[in-house]
Amino acid sequence: MRIDIITLFPELCRVPLSESMMGRAQRNGALELCIHNLRTWTNDRHHVVDDAPFGGGQGMVMKPEPIFAAVESLRSHASKVVLMTPQGRRFDQAMAQRFSGHEHLIIICGHYEGVDHRVIEHLIDVEVSIGDYVLTNGAIAAVIFVDAIVRLLPGVLGHEQSAADDSFSRGWLEAPSYTRPAEFRGWKVPDILLSGHHAEIAAWRKREAERRTRENRPDLLP
Ligand code: 6GU
Repeated sequence: MRIDIITLFPELCRVPLSESMMGRAQRNGALELCIHNLRTWTNDRHHVVDDAPFGGGQGMVMKPEPIFAAVESLRSHASKVVLMTPQGRRFDQAMAQRFSGHEHLIIICGHYEGVDHRVIEHLIDVEVSIGDYVLTNGAIAAVIFVDAIVRLLPGVLGHEQSAADDSFSRGWLEAPSYTRPAEFRGWKVPDILLSGHHAEIAAWRKREAERRTRENRPDLLP
């Protein structure tokens, strides 16, 4: 998969998307990632990317011309163009699955009070928000969006099973896990996990996953 990120803050994306799994995905060829500075597509001496809103009001609005120029220089027939904005559709695991099937994503990171609406009407395919809170910068949201998608690509996770076992891909949260030592400060790991009874362990995990979901995310239960 190829991903182009267009942002005013390329450094915000660069480090988080070069470490660990995201770095490995690029080294093994599963991901080709290009992070671009939007100012590259300005023509004026001061590289202006924003202006005051028509009709008045607070804050600045991102100008359409550099964003159109950027997307038009990067896109092909296979491209899906995404705008990161708190006004977008709320991102979830099912969306991550769908996006992971695309050949090419172009991600525009919003900033300031918003983006000239002609970008939304005439350029992009979909507006995405990562959740119901407001960040100062869409580049941070883009990092999260990309990570969630790229880890689903074939060959990125160590075990192909890992993604299928994730919370949310089966509708509820994951069961608790423990590692050595079997006793820590007097707190013991549940006996069942040391028993070697695989069927009973699976049943315990199912019960605990359901309990955790009921406590932390009752909205996920039917
Ligand atoms: Cl995509 N951008 C910003 N600035 N804030 C957000 C968001 C995106 N998603 C949730 N909050």
